[in-house]
Amino acid sequence: MAVRYNADAKTFILDTEDSSYVMKVSRYGNLLHMYYGEKLPDQELDYLLTLADRGFSPNPYEAGSDRTFSLDFVPQEFSTCRSGDYRSPSIELTWGRGGMAFSGKVAGYEVVSGAEKIQGMPGLRDLPGENTQTLKILLEDPVSGLEIELAYAVFEEKNVIARSVRAINRGDHGVRLEKLMSATLDFRDSDYDLLYFSGRHLMERGLRRIGVSDGVHSIGSSRGASSHQYNPFMIVCEKDCGEDRGQCWGISLVYSGNFRMEAEKDQFSQLRVNAGINPDGFSFWVEPGESFQAPQTVLAWSGEGFGNLSRIYHRVFRENLCRSPYRNRIRPVLLNSWEAAYFDFDDEKLLSIAREAVDLGVDLFVMDDGWFGKRDDDNSGLGDWKENRGKLKMGVRRLSEEIHRMGMKFGVWVEPEMVSEDSDLYRLHPDWCLREPGRPAVRGRNQLVLDLSRRDVCDYLVEAMNSVLDMAQIEYVKWDMNRSLTETWSGCLDREHQGEVAHRYILGLYYVMDQVILKHPEVLFCGCCGGGGRYDAAMLYYQPQIWCSDNTDAVNRLKIQYGTSFAYPVSSMEAHVSVCPNHQTGRVTPLATRGIVAMGGMFGFELDPTRMSPEEKAECRDQIQFYKKHYRLITEGDYYRLTNPYENLYFTAWQQVSRDKKKSLVSLVVTEKEGNDAQRFVKLKGLEAEQFYQIEGWKGKFSGRVLMSAGIPVPAELNQYGGIQLILKMV
Ligand code: GLA
Repeated sequence: MAVRYNADAKTFILDTEDSSYVMKVSRYGNLLHMYYGEKLPDQELDYLLTLADRGFSPNPYEAGSDRTFSLDFVPQEFSTCRSGDYRSPSIELTWGRGGMAFSGKVAGYEVVSGAEKIQGMPGLRDLPGENTQTLKILLEDPVSGLEIELAYAVFEEKNVIARSVRAINRGDHGVRLEKLMSATLDFRDSDYDLLYFSGRHLMERGLRRIGVSDGVHSIGSSRGASSHQYNPFMIVCEKDCGEDRGQCWGISLVYSGNFRMEAEKDQFSQLRVNAGINPDGFSFWVEPGESFQAPQTVLAWSGEGFGNLSRIYHRVFRENLCRSPYRNRIRPVLLNSWEAAYFDFDDEKLLSIAREAVDLGVDLFVMDDGWFGKRDDDNSGLGDWKENRGKLKMGVRRLSEEIHRMGMKFGVWVEPEMVSEDSDLYRLHPDWCLREPGRPAVRGRNQLVLDLSRRDVCDYLVEAMNSVLDMAQIEYVKWDMNRSLTETWSGCLDREHQGEVAHRYILGLYYVMDQVILKHPEVLFCGCCGGGGRYDAAMLYYQPQIWCSDNTDAVNRLKIQYGTSFAYPVSSMEAHVSVCPNHQTGRVTPLATRGIVAMGGMFGFELDPTRMSPEEKAECRDQIQFYKKHYRLITEGDYYRLTNPYENLYFTAWQQVSRDKKKSLVSLVVTEKEGNDAQRFVKLKGLEAEQFYQIEGWKGKFSGRVLMSAGIPVPAELNQYGGIQLILKMV
């Protein structure tokens, strides 16, 4: 049983295959967090709760003369607020005549089978045959009238717990929520490190590791999207935790908007971690009888380091989060026109690129930005989703037919959430964008953001996108979003509700995606936000792959893909071979290396093959063949990071191993070469120690144990930026 309740000890136990999560109802009715870690036998954990009379830590009224119980130090599942716990709370609110306290007590629980759908938002689904159970615990605060429903969906075989929170107003006054965290995780000590993934446009998801220290360390986004700057994923780990050993806990927020993750070391050196919607600028009215659903978080524990933690997330995201039928279908190798032509194209140019692409073995041709409205650069046209006949004289339908005749599928770029001031849409509906009355709107990339908190705007977008999809035979859509939100004020809401706009925007976006993306399951959707600015778990529910970064430089990509791989599977990372000197960094790397790095994700091209030499074309042809031959291994194999590019400056390596361990691919790129260089070795992972393997192109056979404990030499003939792929087969 994944979920158990021990009535004597008043304890809830959630078991996955390898982990246990334990909560307890305190003698005063609070829900305490007792344990999350390695799977436990049935055992009384009360001894872990050390209560004492602590100065300046107040005691709840119901504790009477018991001074040893204070919410200021007991570990809680969902904290109280302004009721004697001075740590960063799970909730903040204003109710009735201005009361701001909340103290929820356990009022009941139920266990249901399966994982319930999260209202209006993405979440994990259980697959047929999976023994998923959900525990729901109700916390009541009769004074404010607000109830909190905590839901824990336990994916036993997947080793994850999906947590969500719903606030229900049972009172007779409106409640204004100012903070509602999706998960609070209280640790009894704080001798931990935090790992998070931060960066900027063109350099997303860099790994950062810091020690927990006094005060609150928080990361987050207030940009309207989950952002290039911080990813909504965090790991708490033991100090000595590494790739293959040590305990670590992952928290992934299934949300694409403003978020916050905070880690607070309290006065008694305990750690509290909160994750949820960013409370900055957020408020939401919950009227009597109504409820507010906070996004889901996916929690995972690993006792064998980050590598295992990542593999847990990869599997559950691929199998239980992605909804597209493409999650286990072979996806096409594509060529995207962006770096090939930018805005400078017409139909003839696209067809000449396509002709060469088909000759390389490309399956899908994608026409990027610039095909619609008046769009010769990025100053106009967004919002007018009608083909630009000036540029595409034959029109999109004929163009698509021509491409199909060549034997390729056809895809287009869209950026539905945006509008250019120089567009028919803006001229018709200037009030449809986010902007404060009387204040000129801040521009980003010279464009404004449509107000997706409005249903009429969303319905318009559903229609506009559906008509794009009906315009021609379209099998792929790149769904972009190219600026951060400012002035999140909506003409449709009154003063009291303006704090809801950023969240309503995301709900609107999910609504549009539900209507367009889930209604077109045969179309492969790729997410994008200036590359990886909205690379979050929620997006994977709609779009099985995301353009990982606008940076196609193979060496920078090693770090970007490395950081991304901590939470997100290879099958989600779109990665393309582009030309050199690279358009973002000016760096020159061998074509072979660019291919190897792009095969660290969903492989494709971002270049103009009409400008390639016959030798280069032959090389690309080989790359496509190699990728297709090993497609399942690359995209679904267990993923192992062999080096950390922040520590090993000389080379970066990673490895995929088939689930049965019979086949493996090792990829390696030299990042720094010295004269008369040291012989370096790379230790492989995930193989069967007792079995022998052959390495394609190498003589002899090698025991799995030796390959893992002594490794293989990095071939000395590899020069700076040189790379190699090795296929291993069990013999
Ligand atoms: C964003 C994307 C790019 C490209 C451009 C087009 O920056 O990330 O790949 O599609 O928009 O304007």
